[in-house]
Amino acid sequence: MENNQSKWVRAYTNIAFIKYWGKKNEEFILPQNNSLSLTLDAFYTETKVTFDKNLDNDILILDGEEEGPNALKKAQVILDLVREMAGIKTRARIDSKNFVPTAAGLASSASGLAALAGAASLAAGLDLSEIELSRLARRGSGSASRSIYGGFAEWLQGTSDEDSVAVPVDDADWDIGMLFIIVDDNRKDVSSTEGMRRVVETSPYYDGWISSAAEDLVAIKTAIANHDLKTTGEIAERSALKMHALNLSANPPFNYWSPDSIVAMRKVTELREMGYPVYLTMDAGPNVKLICKASQLEEIYAILKKDYREEQLVMAKPGPGMQILED
Ligand code: DP6
Repeated sequence: MENNQSKWVRAYTNIAFIKYWGKKNEEFILPQNNSLSLTLDAFYTETKVTFDKNLDNDILILDGEEEGPNALKKAQVILDLVREMAGIKTRARIDSKNFVPTAAGLASSASGLAALAGAASLAAGLDLSEIELSRLARRGSGSASRSIYGGFAEWLQGTSDEDSVAVPVDDADWDIGMLFIIVDDNRKDVSSTEGMRRVVETSPYYDGWISSAAEDLVAIKTAIANHDLKTTGEIAERSALKMHALNLSANPPFNYWSPDSIVAMRKVTELREMGYPVYLTMDAGPNVKLICKASQLEEIYAILKKDYREEQLVMAKPGPGMQILED
């Protein structure tokens, strides 16, 4: 195995406007519904993989520190698939760096596993298409399937491992952006995997989630095509709140909100009352993300700055797809 194809690969994180919340198959990470996200420029991961005959085990060095077996496990799913495709047995060293604008725990499995899929396949000499990369990234983390692309991407649930892949939807080259409010929270969250399992198995509302997600998806794609921020934002906000309502309706119930999340959600209402088209979304954690006009990011930032510290606010614009970095 030659090592000269080892290159740094960069992938940006994405935030879902129509949430993926529930799996049909945990091993293959097949989702219960199609989801749709926007890739953002503010957060990304750079990863390089080196297959090395002198290694007895795979190793993962994240931001300069060797990671333990838990973090390595997801990465090894991707490495093993790549080794199988390339017909090699060599172990690998993964070097990875997360670029996040604050220290508030915003590193994302979406950008991490997408960058790994790109870097590992490149290092193994595989020439994969974007669709094939999306399928590979999906096996590490579902949301990573969408981070192959810039702008808006839709992860099609498909019918099997073969056709459950993300595709690009819109380059997001219009007036849309996102502002993150990082709220303080010390709780140990329910993992996405556990949260999804619990809602699929126990929420009495799960059927309603599936049917309404399909309707939301059709409507949001029209809104995106029309560059209609208001409708896009309203649908995204409802999708997020429905996902969080599923969590409240699970047995046992759980939620990702801290008191400060509720305060931040109120700010969104206040900004709307002030006339700004601003809509919220939230994921499996307490942070609140504001969907807004990219051209109003600075203005909204200045308003929020009265209530938040600088390191709690992050502005983001639509980001590009995966990139191979030249040395
Ligand atoms: C709430 O992709 O992290 O962000 O497939 O189990 O690794 P696994 O889950 P992950 O879940 C993301 C859930 C979400 C919604 C979304 O990104 O669509």
